[in-house]
Amino acid sequence: TPVSILTVPFDLGASQRGTRQGPEAILKAGLVNKLHALQMKHTLQEIHFPPFIEESNSSSPLLKHLNENIMVHSKLADEVYRLSKHGAFPLILGGDHSIAIGTISGLRKHHQSLGIIWMDAHSDLNTPLTTPSGNIHGMSLAVNLGMGDPKLTSIGGMKSSINPKNVVIVGARSIDYGEREFIRREGITCYTMHDIDKLGMAYVMQEAIRISSSGTDGVHLSFDIDSMDPQIAPATGTPVPGGLSYREAHLAMEMLYESSILTSAEIVENNPMFDDGERSSELLVGLIGSLLGERIL
Ligand code: ARG
Ligand code: MN
Ligand code: MN
Ligand code: MN
Repeated sequence: TPVSILTVPFDLGASQRGTRQGPEAILKAGLVNKLHALQMKHTLQEIHFPPFIEESNSSSPLLKHLNENIMVHSKLADEVYRLSKHGAFPLILGGDHSIAIGTISGLRKHHQSLGIIWMDAHSDLNTPLTTPSGNIHGMSLAVNLGMGDPKLTSIGGMKSSINPKNVVIVGARSIDYGEREFIRREGITCYTMHDIDKLGMAYVMQEAIRISSSGTDGVHLSFDIDSMDPQIAPATGTPVPGGLSYREAHLAMEMLYESSILTSAEIVENNPMFDDGERSSELLVGLIGSLLGERIL
C-alpha cells in the first residue's frame, strides 16, 4: 500500500501557537528520505486553508476558534475519506491534536467499525461542559465518540460510530476529572504510565493491538508527541513529566508494524518552537520509520 502523507499546518485547537510549523519540521528532518530508504511509494499533499486571523470575535471561551476548527477538520475529513477509499495508507502530520476530529471523521466514512490507539499524555476526552481550557485539542477523542458540540460531531456527514470498547489510550498521566468519568462510563481502556511501569510496554501494546482490532475493519494510530517524555521530545506546548522512553516509543511502533493491523496513522502536536534544534522532529522520523517496517537487524 502506498503511504499518502497529508500535512495539516494548524494550531488553533491549542493554546500555544507553533504546531502549524510541525509538518514542515518533520519533512525537513528527513521523512521523505526515510520512505525512500524503506522503498515505500508515497504521495505528499497539504490541506490548504486561508490564513486565519488570530483573535476572531466568534471565539467562545469554551470552544476556542470553533469556526476555524470546523473548516480545517471538514477539509481533512474529505481528503482522508478519499484516500482510504482508494486503498492508500493515510499518514497525517499535524498540527495540534484537534485535527484527529478531521482524520477520524474521514476514516469513519470508509470503515464500518474503526479501532483507535490513542498514544498521549492526555486523554482528550473533554467536552464544552468539562473543559478546563476551551481548547479543542483537549476534546478530539470525545468528539470522535460522538460527544461534544454538534458542529464538531457532525463533521464528515454520515459515518459509522466508534465502539468505545475498541478505543485504547496509551501513556496517559494527565487526566481531568470529567475525562476520568468519561473513561469509566464508556468502558474505554486506558493504560496510564503507572500501568506501563508495572506491566511493561510489550504487554500493554499486545493488549492495545488485541483490543483495538477485535471485530473492527480498521485501526487508526493517533500519536501525540507528548506521550513521550519531554526530556527526549521537548517539542510540545503541553509537556507532562514521566512519559514514554525512547525505546518504549520505538517498541510500540515496531509492534504495531509486526501486527499489521494499522490502516492509518497521525503524528500530532509537534511544535518546533519548543524543540531543541531538530531533536524531536528527528525522533518522530525515526518512529515513523519503525512504524513502517524499519528493523534494527
Ligand atoms: N486536558 C487539557 C485540556 O483539556 C489538556 C489537553 C492537551 N491536549 C493535547 N492534545 N495536547 O485542555
Ligand atoms: Mn519521492
Ligand atoms: Mn492529545
Ligand atoms: Mn497530549
